[in-house]
Amino acid sequence: MIRIAAVGDVHIDRDVLGRFRPALEELPDRADVLLLAGDLTRHGTEAEAKCVATEFGGLGVPVIAVLGNHDHHCDEVPGVLAALTDAGITVLEGDSIVVDVDGTRLGVAGVKGFGGGFAGRCASEFGEPEMKAFVRTTGTVAERLGAALRDLDCDVRVALTHYAPVPDTLAGEPLEIYPFLGSYLLGQAIDSAPTDLAVHGHAHHGSERGRTPGGVRVRNVAHPVIKQAYSVFNLAREHVSPSAASGI
Ligand SMILES: [Fe+2]
Ligand SMILES: [Fe+2]
Repeated sequence: MIRIAAVGDVHIDRDVLGRFRPALEELPDRADVLLLAGDLTRHGTEAEAKCVATEFGGLGVPVIAVLGNHDHHCDEVPGVLAALTDAGITVLEGDSIVVDVDGTRLGVAGVKGFGGGFAGRCASEFGEPEMKAFVRTTGTVAERLGAALRDLDCDVRVALTHYAPVPDTLAGEPLEIYPFLGSYLLGQAIDSAPTDLAVHGHAHHGSERGRTPGGVRVRNVAHPVIKQAYSVFNLAREHVSPSAASGI
């Protein structure tokens, strides 16, 4: 059994620093790994990323993250990445990591993701170059996620994104902004591999549970949605335990 803690959209800056740490000190007793589903900072500055490093570094379990749109806002991504990796936090973007948990190999593939919308109501690669570039960006990112998932050699496979791969977990958000919250292409990528769980953030007003068309469980772990420092999902080798204490 692998216990996966996850939270997104912690939006750390100096004002928030310390909010999560008391709960995080107990995390190693409750989980084997922590996933951070993007929007780690408020505006994507290196200074804020150093606050994230202070808050989430040195936990005693592997911490694996993807960035979110907020982490790109000030165009300081290299500095943000340096601050996080210096604190031992692994940041994925089109790649993956395998963590050994008591002999079971947990594979996590991650991308930030991007928008575009969902089947039947999505943007298409047509018309102005700006629209083509928007849709192509999502397509490229989704292809990288799918390849990273398929290439994983592991027992339990998890997809980590910031943007949503399905509309289910957006319920509660205005329909008008769905195309800016995620893309069905991410869901297709997740379904292209035997993925056990998909975790995302970004939809602060969305809902917690969904499923890809292929049946993969999707969980929105945005902090405003889960309303706790992190959720814990228990996954067994080859499948998600139906009796998971986390209520998966
Ligand atoms: Fe956010
Ligand atoms: Fe976001």
